[in-house]
Amino acid sequence: MNIGIDRIDFYTPNQYVDLVDLAKRRDVDPDKFTIGIGQEKMGLPLISQDAVTMAAMAADKILDEATKKDIELLIIGTESGVDESKAASLFVRDLIGLPKTVRAFEIKEACYGATAGIQMAYNFVAQNPEKSALVISSDIARYGLNTPGEVTQGAGAVAMLIKAEPKILALQNDSVFMSENVGDFWRPTFSKYAFARGKFSNEVYIRFFDELYDAYFEKNNTTIDDLSAILFHIPYSKMGKKALQSVENKVDEAKYHELMQRYESSILLSKSIGNLYTGSLYLGLISYLENAEDLKTDDQIMLFSYGSGSMGEIFTGKLQPGYKENLNQEQHLKELAERRKLSVDEYETEFKKEIEIVDGDWFIGNLTNEKYYLEQIKENERIYKSL
Ligand code: COA
Repeated sequence: MNIGIDRIDFYTPNQYVDLVDLAKRRDVDPDKFTIGIGQEKMGLPLISQDAVTMAAMAADKILDEATKKDIELLIIGTESGVDESKAASLFVRDLIGLPKTVRAFEIKEACYGATAGIQMAYNFVAQNPEKSALVISSDIARYGLNTPGEVTQGAGAVAMLIKAEPKILALQNDSVFMSENVGDFWRPTFSKYAFARGKFSNEVYIRFFDELYDAYFEKNNTTIDDLSAILFHIPYSKMGKKALQSVENKVDEAKYHELMQRYESSILLSKSIGNLYTGSLYLGLISYLENAEDLKTDDQIMLFSYGSGSMGEIFTGKLQPGYKENLNQEQHLKELAERRKLSVDEYETEFKKEIEIVDGDWFIGNLTNEKYYLEQIKENERIYKSL
């Protein structure tokens, strides 16, 4: 029985900052951001949007009433949780109308959370082949104004339906993984913003990839020639590229060229949306499937998942017949084209907005006109609404 990704889609907020504008304001050569970092735009949520509303928006795109009935597992991978105790999944289950008979919870391990969710979902479906699992990554990447990481921010969610005989990607149950206690990126409970040792995190990310790359082929007794592409966690597009460059001496020239060309297809969406933290790898998968040329059924794609702190995993999936009919490229291009460009002043003002709770209450209403929103905080409890 094949198990894997049957449906996949993403949501990103309807407003963005252009990184050339940001570079000019920060007195930086725009080429540093667009070439050196490899990013062009970054999405920014409004104060009524958070990991819950974005997850619900993404999930809505892949579900209908029939598919909802079979879902018995809902996992949200996030490092932008809205509550230290209650899982975002419980709000989301309610908003999108999943049955009560769903096991719903949240997973945190930096940008690795959704991958943990997918592996758990795989095992769940293996034991319950008639049932399916909904895995959603949802994050707001925030480093702060005027920080080195500012250009690597972004926001959004990726929703994936994991089931038997999937229509898009059949996972191969061939993972290799590793973990270490590393201080490359973290966000303590007392801070709204992440702390990152940016250059050190590059080193750890590449080292994890290198070790897992070798371990993968050793464990599975295969070679790079069995694979058509390597997709990476993409906090910014230069980072995955550097990791891919690290295997140049391990593959022949033609294969390296092919892998690099295919990598370029996988970063198009991220360049225009920014960092989704745990969703970045899966946004890269959508980008790759929508933009790469000459894809064939049974193409085997390697995915490298990395969460700072640090957890890494490499696994693969095989492309399923008719995968393209289950993607929404035209819709994505339209949505991205219709986003509102924020001036740097608007971005900074929005960025600094804080929830201001007075006597346990705060009211904001729907700022976005989108289906799901945080309407208010009442008696210290978040109240979400849907249109
Ligand atoms: N034109 C083209 N490229 C330029 C340039 C210009 N005018 N000026 C600088 N660059 C290049 C640099 O050469 C460098 O490229 P390289 O990495 O290939 O050497 C790149 O732009 C970045 O410049 P650098 O000086 O290293 O940037 P920085 O000190 O401002 O920090 C990060 C960059 C990525 C370290 C920082 O944005 C960061 O900390 N981001 C968060 C890290 C992260 O996401 N960690 C978690 C990962 S899982």
